[in-house]
Amino acid sequence: MRDAAPQTIYLKDYAPFGYLVDSVHLTFDLAPHATRVTSRIAFRPNPQARDRRFFLHGEGLTLIRAAIDGAGITPEITDGGLTAEAPDAPFVWECEVEIDPGHNTALEGLYMSNGMYCTQCEAEGFRKITYYPDRPDVMSTFSVRINGDLPVLLSNGNPTGRGEGWAEWHDPWPKPAYLFALVAGNLVAQSDSFTTVSGKPVDLNLWVRPGDEHKCAFGMEALKKAMKWDEDTYGREYDLDVFNIVAVDDFNMGAMENKGLNIFNSSCVLASPDTSTDMNFERIEAIIAHEYFHNWTGNRITCRDWFQLCLKEGLTVFRDSQFTADMRSAPVKRISDVIDLRARQFPEDTGPLSHPVRPESFQEINNFYTATVYEKGAEVIGMLKRLVGDSAYAEALDLYFARHDGQACTIEDWLKVFEDVTGRDLGQFKRWYSQSGTPRLSVEEAFEDGTYTLTFTQRTAPTPGQPEKSPQVIPIAVGLLGPNGDEVLPTQVLEMTETTQSFTFEGLAAHPVPSILRDFSAPVILDQLPESADRAFLLAHDTDPFNRWEAGRDLARQCLIDMITKGADPDADYLDGIRRVLRDDQLDPAYRALMLGLPGQSQLAGFLHEAGITPDPMAIWSAVERLKDAQAEALGDLLGELYNSAQVAGPYAPDAAQSGKRALAGAILGLMTRRDGGEQAAAQFAAADNMTLQLSALACLLRAGKGAAQLARFYDQWKADRLVIDKWFMLQITEAAPKDAAQIARALTEHADFTWKTPNRFRAVFGALAGNHAGFHAPSGAAYALLADWLIRLDPLNPQTTARMCSAFQTWKRYDAERQALIGAQLERIASTPDLSRDTAEMISRIRGA
Ligand code: TRP
Ligand code: ZN
Repeated sequence: MRDAAPQTIYLKDYAPFGYLVDSVHLTFDLAPHATRVTSRIAFRPNPQARDRRFFLHGEGLTLIRAAIDGAGITPEITDGGLTAEAPDAPFVWECEVEIDPGHNTALEGLYMSNGMYCTQCEAEGFRKITYYPDRPDVMSTFSVRINGDLPVLLSNGNPTGRGEGWAEWHDPWPKPAYLFALVAGNLVAQSDSFTTVSGKPVDLNLWVRPGDEHKCAFGMEALKKAMKWDEDTYGREYDLDVFNIVAVDDFNMGAMENKGLNIFNSSCVLASPDTSTDMNFERIEAIIAHEYFHNWTGNRITCRDWFQLCLKEGLTVFRDSQFTADMRSAPVKRISDVIDLRARQFPEDTGPLSHPVRPESFQEINNFYTATVYEKGAEVIGMLKRLVGDSAYAEALDLYFARHDGQACTIEDWLKVFEDVTGRDLGQFKRWYSQSGTPRLSVEEAFEDGTYTLTFTQRTAPTPGQPEKSPQVIPIAVGLLGPNGDEVLPTQVLEMTETTQSFTFEGLAAHPVPSILRDFSAPVILDQLPESADRAFLLAHDTDPFNRWEAGRDLARQCLIDMITKGADPDADYLDGIRRVLRDDQLDPAYRALMLGLPGQSQLAGFLHEAGITPDPMAIWSAVERLKDAQAEALGDLLGELYNSAQVAGPYAPDAAQSGKRALAGAILGLMTRRDGGEQAAAQFAAADNMTLQLSALACLLRAGKGAAQLARFYDQWKADRLVIDKWFMLQITEAAPKDAAQIARALTEHADFTWKTPNRFRAVFGALAGNHAGFHAPSGAAYALLADWLIRLDPLNPQTTARMCSAFQTWKRYDAERQALIGAQLERIASTPDLSRDTAEMISRIRGA
């Protein structure tokens, strides 16, 4: 079912629904190709609404019967739903529809995965289950009966009854339909319990397919930690008798916060030391926390409309980052988040897909679950907290929960609690929600008679639909270091509000070295003062761990740019600096591992483009290779010692201490492989007793053009484990030489295990291909064509996953005319595919700039 003309929805057009819903009763008679859904819904006129039209969303439903107050009616079926004559008084709507979960490949609504029924309703999937006002400001309690011949039958809320072939659930907390969930299948649980701060016991279950039981323990511990943390940190207590989590193999995204019944992509919850890397463990802990935290930020307080998505997502990402910082290392988490922001959000915000944290229009809301809404949305909250201070932040949050519990809210409601608590006017700050694009901050300095002046200028380039930009409120955390490396001014937050603004610091004995934007206090691009000697100085002395790392990263970037554009040699100061950091065993190994990292190749292409230079992906690739060789040489004599010092004794644990050591060992092994031809990597692979060591060794070997035997052995060992086989697919493409990447990816699409309808497997291949910068942009254009072929093939089955993958092309205007022509032709080919989904059509047209 396709729409004829794409419709654009606008924030300014918001109007409440004509009716309120007092209760929803649903009965499911499950059958793979003919599930019956019977609904009984109590409506009453909404006194706040002017428009009393009775329209219910519905897509792909076969209407069996409908009745109002017991009398059968024949509603008018329209494009996306139905309309009927409804009384201007309370009434009961009853309706029966038939749906076909067995043929639902889009993975929205009710669908099947490995014989198990499950649902995904956010954002607009409930309308594929039954007719309903499928919008987040319509909230109701739900009672559900499931009839089905399966051992486990789950829905939201608390269990209220169960017998042979049926189960009943009741969720007492009013919720929008997007939080509805149902799961039915042959599942087994790892169970535990949690006693809340006020002494209420909660049954916890993590449901998985038989055979996956050994991968549940870590997720369960993470859940309990998250529950405790939310009580301790935000005063948020859980509010049902049970909390269920289900792992599903076929899933479009990471996980979903359905009330009392979180559903997870298997890859985001199942973990064991043998099959998961340290990074997998950390991510799983964060996602479990994220979905759990949504219980308050998202579920108890939800969004009025989908334009307010960042209200729940930005805040919940911010909360899960705080959680990870508390559970692990705060500086390491901050640096990792900034790396991720620069890799995913900055390109989005500087290209054709740029949109505000709170968009003002969309065609397909699924296309706005973006790095901007999530990660920039979280940064905006971090800035707010920095501006008002920790205690005002805590007070504002208390007020938010007290004032808005049970409501569907807006960004205005959110900012108002901060205004009420602090007395500040946040009118200008609000531009962070409405203005798209990444502000660029430049700085000048002056020193005279003991007074040091920093003058900042902010500029935001035009973005689609926003030619003019206004100055934003930028919290700039600054510290000053004296000539001998002592901190002469501890961190201060400067509040910049003008286009150009100066800040002075008095009583200084000498010209200081400034440490600007400490802890990455705002999501901006900072053009540092030019002196690279200052970078080297900060790399050696900065007390702010983020900026110390940033100094090294800046040197590396400058050095790479000089290598690419001027044929320069690797910078000796940079290599000296990291050598000093690496041998400082007082520093956290995880932090030292981050210090060895280099800016991503796609990011370097972005820097060049912004500097007016057309990036050559192959030249970038070879500069990075040469700098890594130079790192290996500079650390030469230290490598063995560092590698040994980073070995972990005793049984495996995925905690911060052990993972940090393994991260360092992995980075060092990468450098060693450049010198020993893979000897140490082969030894590590052979001896590995956990996935982190096994995979990092295999990656080193493949990168060195070796490891064919190990790759085959790896496949043999893990062929029965789908999550590890995803890694097997991914790694070969990630580590492929640029000239081979497309060919390897193509061969893998012909592999018997390339189950492309499963989003995880599709992403393993094409996410890796798009991420291999020089491989993706190889001059033949083979990778572009391969990706386009498969996007065209997947689109009719799964629009959501197809549309997300289109963003691989979002940076296409950076490159030379030949590449632009090649990509342009593929975009054109996709755009002209008959019956293209609304999701993909919108993405391609935005990317083309049409
Ligand atoms: N709300 C989910 C989260 O961030 C994400 C989500 C939105 C999602 N739409 C989805 C997950 C569709 C899976 C499928 O936690
Ligand atoms: Zn979320």
